[in-house]
Amino acid sequence: ARKFFVGGNWKMNGTKSEINDIVAFLKTGPLDPNVEVVVGVPAIYLTYVTSIVPGNVSVSAQNTYKVPKGAFTGEISPAMLLDNGIPWVILGHSERRNVFGETDELIAEKVQHALEAGLKVIACIGEKLEEREAGKTEEVVYKQTKAIADKIKSWDNVVLAYEPVWAIGTGKTATPQQAQEVHEKLRDWLSKNVNPDVSQTLRIIYGGSVTAGNAKDLAKEKDIDGFLVGGASLKPDFVQIVNARC
Ligand code: 13P
Repeated sequence: ARKFFVGGNWKMNGTKSEINDIVAFLKTGPLDPNVEVVVGVPAIYLTYVTSIVPGNVSVSAQNTYKVPKGAFTGEISPAMLLDNGIPWVILGHSERRNVFGETDELIAEKVQHALEAGLKVIACIGEKLEEREAGKTEEVVYKQTKAIADKIKSWDNVVLAYEPVWAIGTGKTATPQQAQEVHEKLRDWLSKNVNPDVSQTLRIIYGGSVTAGNAKDLAKEKDIDGFLVGGASLKPDFVQIVNARC
């Protein structure tokens, strides 16, 4: 069985004082022990959060570059994260793709390097509204997944996050049926293009306006293995989302 996975993506939010409040509700929980919980933290707070989170919560960066070191002003490498005890990174988030112009190719190179360096990766994919409306959802998510699949040897340390761009920060959550349909198609694609074992073991999580109110219904779908949560991960609601299958 695939272990349920809930990630909180704080994006560019949080002060030390706000972070202390978040860590307080994570400590109070209680968090379902059957769920893997990871928080995605702005780079400057990674070591601070690592030093104060409870042991059942892991810490993730929100980006890394594709080489170990060198003349890349402003970037952080997987080796630097591991040197600081940070085990996870979020790569390919739609904001990296659409605000910062990251391509499928660059994201795939980053995923490849992060895995080779020893990080675990939350790899994000998802279609834009106009792509969905043009009937191109499958084409887009297959292309994004293929770029990664072509570069990596193993999916063991990957969680795939399906985050339709039209659902991110909009309050327009995908319905459980809409999300399930894409997750199931991704498994079919993985079965045919990677291998059947990966299609059954890879965790595919949903992101996009997940709340304490809609998490339970989404979590009932057989191919939804958890969530990547933005706005609600900054609030005590996050605990209810972690516990969606309780
Ligand atoms: P929201 O939950 O705020 O819609 O953000 C989703 C997201 O982008 C998580 O990575």
